[in-house]
Amino acid sequence: MNTERNYTLNDENASLICKLPFISGSVGPNVIDIQALYKQTGLFALDPGFTSTASCRSKITYIDGEAGILLYRGYPIEQLAEHCSFLEVCYLLMQGNLPTQDQLDQLINQVTHHTLLHDQLTNFFSGFRRDAHPMAIMLAVVGALSAFYHDALDIHSKDDRDLCAIRIIAKIPTIVAMSYKYSIGLPFMFPKNNLSYVENFMCMMLGNPCETFIPNPVMVRALDRILILHADHEQNASTSTVRLAGSSGANPYACITSGIACLWGPAHGGANEAVLNMLMEIGDVSNINHYIKRAKDKNDPFRLMGFGHRVYKNHDPRAKLMRATCHEVLDELGLHDDPLFKLALKLEGIALEDDYFINKKLYPNVDFYSGIVLKALGIPSNMFTAMFAMGRSIGWISHWDEMISDPAQKIGRPRQLYTGETHRDVTKITDRIVK
Ligand code: SDX
Repeated sequence: MNTERNYTLNDENASLICKLPFISGSVGPNVIDIQALYKQTGLFALDPGFTSTASCRSKITYIDGEAGILLYRGYPIEQLAEHCSFLEVCYLLMQGNLPTQDQLDQLINQVTHHTLLHDQLTNFFSGFRRDAHPMAIMLAVVGALSAFYHDALDIHSKDDRDLCAIRIIAKIPTIVAMSYKYSIGLPFMFPKNNLSYVENFMCMMLGNPCETFIPNPVMVRALDRILILHADHEQNASTSTVRLAGSSGANPYACITSGIACLWGPAHGGANEAVLNMLMEIGDVSNINHYIKRAKDKNDPFRLMGFGHRVYKNHDPRAKLMRATCHEVLDELGLHDDPLFKLALKLEGIALEDDYFINKKLYPNVDFYSGIVLKALGIPSNMFTAMFAMGRSIGWISHWDEMISDPAQKIGRPRQLYTGETHRDVTKITDRIVK
């Protein structure tokens, strides 16, 4: 809410430059609204990486990085992970409140009956090499969804936006599973409407047409929780990408594709795959100190993957829940002596006692344990980021929906601090010299 308070900017002669509104939200840091800064002063604000910039108003997710708090629509992630299903959380993120049983049953029915892909979409897979990274395939096939479903693309219709959300939530697991099957040369599995959302995904991903897939309830619950933990996270890089793409009025499936592209990077959603590769490279507890030393060495590009976060300067609450899920799954599988998990626990313990990590407030993030759990569930490491995308899709489409329905929404168009050449004239090529 706007309060009357203004911030004044004075120059070195203490003369007033401008007055900017001070705005407070329901919780968390307040903001100075700088929309009028350029008009009043001819100045831009510079903030590469947006470390101090709020890009929008949002009611969806709140993070307190200092306290390690994460709320989806006001509900603590710990309670949602404990008491809700992923589809309940999808309803919460998209509609703003937890569903009644009838509302949840309706959502489940809608998602269940939208899991199939248009048959022509299966042709997109065969254009890829079998060893193509699944994220490359996901980009292509999810992007191709924008060439279908023209029956409901009026982005200013809430019903059409809700149907887009249903289609995204329902079809992305099918695409992820098909990407995996294609990479290992096995036939695609059709969705089965008698299975739950996660059971169906596991059947499409890990089942085969020659036998009946029997889902393990502990694994199903673990994967359902992993999807909840990845569902949303405020204005992270990929969500901001979806918002920026959507601000031009672009097709929602194309906007989600832009989020997938951004998530792929190892600094973001690609970190879970990078963590597993790092643990495999470290190999043994005896090597941990060498890698900790490398992570602290400014001249070494190596970073401790799965550690650190732009917002969390305390434990990422998702990492704690992921570690607990790891214990559960490995115990269920009789893998409590899993060497990678033991190595990860040891690495976490050593890093958290090291001054470098303590002083820079680097804690394990959501990606540190997720790879170990996913590997234990039988999912290969090159599919880890695709799994992250499967969970995050509801966050992306919820932020897209919030942005499109905001009457104050306008196209995102940042400016810059120009540091290049000032005016100069073109010279004849014969007169040019090597610079
Ligand atoms: C996700 O934004 C989100 O919400 C993302 C996410 C979500 O749910 O959407 O939470 C998901 O992306 C989690 C993060 C996954 N990425 C990784 O685990 C990769 C490893 N972590 C880092 O690359 C890094 O910590 C980031 C990218 C996560 C955060 O980077 P910042 O906020 O830009 O911080 P920085 O790079 O400026 O680092 C600050 C300092 C630097 O040292 P100085 O230059 O100050 O001396 O901390 C150091 C960095 O060198 N540092 C690390 C480190 N992370 C930061 N040093 C060693 N190992 C690391 N992992």
